[in-house]
Amino acid sequence: MYPIMKKILFRMDPEVAHEWTIRSLQLLQQMPFLAKSIQQKWEVRHPSLSSQVAQHSFPNPVGLAAGFDKHANVYPALAHLGFGFVEVGTLTPRPQSGNARPRLFRLPEDQAIINRMGFNNHGVEDAVHSFQTLPRPTIPIGINLGKNKDTPNEQASQDYTIGLQTLYPYGDYFVINISSPNTQGLRDLQEAKALEKLLTDILQTRDRCIQSHQVKKPIFLKIAPDLTEEQLIEIMEIVLHTKMDGMIATNTTLSREGLLNQVSSHETGGLSGRPLTSRSTRWIAEIYRFTQGKVPIIGVGGIFTAEDAYAKIRAGASLVQVYTGMIYQGPAVVKQINQGLVKLLKRDGFASVQDAVGVDVSI
Ligand SMILES: Cc1cc2nc3c(=O)[nH]c(=O)nc-3n(C[C@H](O)[C@H](O)[C@H](O)COP(=O)(O)O)c2cc1C
Repeated sequence: MYPIMKKILFRMDPEVAHEWTIRSLQLLQQMPFLAKSIQQKWEVRHPSLSSQVAQHSFPNPVGLAAGFDKHANVYPALAHLGFGFVEVGTLTPRPQSGNARPRLFRLPEDQAIINRMGFNNHGVEDAVHSFQTLPRPTIPIGINLGKNKDTPNEQASQDYTIGLQTLYPYGDYFVINISSPNTQGLRDLQEAKALEKLLTDILQTRDRCIQSHQVKKPIFLKIAPDLTEEQLIEIMEIVLHTKMDGMIATNTTLSREGLLNQVSSHETGGLSGRPLTSRSTRWIAEIYRFTQGKVPIIGVGGIFTAEDAYAKIRAGASLVQVYTGMIYQGPAVVKQINQGLVKLLKRDGFASVQDAVGVDVSI
């Protein structure tokens, strides 16, 4: 059915198509019978797919990346599409409208998207309301946190702290997003001194949350693919020494290398999809090698097929996420990837995803 829907959606302005999709998912949330039957059709249950990562059980390793459910209001519907986990956000303390439209562009020849959304979201209080009123899915829900556009970098840790404290009861894991290219200066927080301070503050806040809620929730750091090797090493040293729980590699890229599309490739913003596939897999392998497999990695960037997901797992990712692949191939991509992974694991003699993590990397 998606080829027909895609024809309709791809005739619309990309952001209108997204809003239309979100409204359809909200409708689905009001039809639990339909949602259940979709889940039964699309969910792939197989013992080789389930795993334990950062103290959570994942029924399969394929998650939805941040930026789709920006306001955390359709994650229950998304949980019915066969994902092993869903990440919501990026959420900022105060609501903000993001950059001026148009800010989302399709590059079909490249199977890619450029976005400069700029953390448009309804803010953390609105998300609390969603979490308190919507049904809780059985899969893990990650919450991706950012800072407001008008918060100076020197005060960034306050914004992440507010996000973490306010949403702590509702996320199964949290993500510190300092790698979006669409909030001016945000990526400067990846610089060693700023990052060390930021993560130290955030982990102190987490300690206070553990005291008050009696539960430790893992925190991942999401990085950009446009770092130099030296920058990546500095970041990993800080991640190891501050004892962050994991990393997400990667966010969108500023690179425009090798694009075929002539219409939108000049647009500013982050590029995602096929052009990012091998770049993000390389970063995953680098992180896995440097951290000697001690830091769980969520691999994201240009996953369209089971082979793409498997390459990231073999490079060191314990879990993977998709976004652009779902725009081009529809939600059935999740089932295709999971079914394909079962076959690839079996072909190579692995009893589980966990057994295949990092096998292509010598440490
Ligand atoms: C339209 C759009 C919006 C996004 N918004 C966010 C966001 O708010 N926070 C974030 O961490 N990543 C965001 N991302 C990045 C994705 O989570 C992902 O890291 C990136 O797109 C690479 O994966 P993909 O090639 O499968 O799309 C966004 C991506 C797209 C395409």
